[in-house]
Amino acid sequence: RDDLVVLGIETSCDDTAAAIVRSNGDILSQVVSSQADLLARYGGVAPKMAEGAHMQVIDQVVQDALENANLTERDLSAVAVTIGPGLSLCLRVGVQKARKIAGSHNLPIVGVHHMEAHALVARLIEKDLQFPFMALLISGGHNLLILARDLGHYIQLGTTIDDAIGEAYDKTAKWLGLDMRRSGGPAIEELAREGDAKAVKFSTPMKQHKDCNFSYAGLKTQVRLAIESRNINAEIPISSASSEDRSSRADIAASFQRVAVLHLEERCERAIEWALKIEPSIKHLVVSGGVASNQYVRAQLDQVVKKKSLQLVCPPPSLCTDNGVMVAWTGLEHFCMGRYDPPPPANEPEDYV
Ligand code: KG4
Ligand code: ZN
Repeated sequence: RDDLVVLGIETSCDDTAAAIVRSNGDILSQVVSSQADLLARYGGVAPKMAEGAHMQVIDQVVQDALENANLTERDLSAVAVTIGPGLSLCLRVGVQKARKIAGSHNLPIVGVHHMEAHALVARLIEKDLQFPFMALLISGGHNLLILARDLGHYIQLGTTIDDAIGEAYDKTAKWLGLDMRRSGGPAIEELAREGDAKAVKFSTPMKQHKDCNFSYAGLKTQVRLAIESRNINAEIPISSASSEDRSSRADIAASFQRVAVLHLEERCERAIEWALKIEPSIKHLVVSGGVASNQYVRAQLDQVVKKKSLQLVCPPPSLCTDNGVMVAWTGLEHFCMGRYDPPPPANEPEDYV
């Protein structure tokens, strides 16, 4: 059906996002309100504070999404909302809002898994992306390699045994004294362009483990030690660093990025070999999640995928980082297959959720 219109709400971590998507794939609106300022001031996500920030903006974000699409709540076919994984206090803000709208207008609700949404949004931008396909999902909290056999049918090929790659980017940025008013990933990507990626010898994680799992805690420690041994002081922001100090920081950024991504390359190559044995008809590797907006990550993985005669599908950066479009689209996919919850009662008390 091409005439369905779904609102998607995402509040699992530090961004409050809403979007409206039509079943033919048109994105009618997309709104994100970021807590980057708060994060910079407190150096991380504190759940109670993040909950408060979501509560402050959720009504406005949803209203803007509707207005930008020239729609009212009455025009919606269903409401999709992220129900996990994420910070439960934060998720609740989105779920309460979704149930309130659905209850007032007798609309079905579709509960969406955040990581499934990161993967499936690729089907919105690449119309010939059919199941089965593979996906590498890389963000601040997750590092997942999956084989998507069908809608709702996923096999996990690998996950992180400690930290996710985005976490390693964020800590490296913090220790290098980069501007934390935005997330660390883009700051490292930019600084790495000035550096020599072979200057610092970091070892690739989990070389001896011939599986598809990931580990970034050890690389983080290697980076911290390299920073200490070069007497880099994170209290001195990079903008005030001497040119010698700056180039030493750039070398660390570039060397870190090379090894962090090499780890992804090695795991993806093995995962593709495994997956093709189960599903020889696989044609695509989807790479999504915040870290997938990195150009170096994309270029390196593109080479791996080409070597295996597959095609890389990478959503545009605004659909790689947390957003409402991926939730609305995943909601639509499930809704069209008849997978949804009935409308909640009108005037349901908010603390019901
Ligand atoms: O998917 P996402 O927006 O939120 C989570 O679900 O975690 O991912 C956020 C992560 C952060 O760690 C951020 O530093 C990283 O994605 N990130 C990047 C880039 N843009 C965002 N990492 C590397 N390079 C980038 N350009
Ligand atoms: Zn995410």
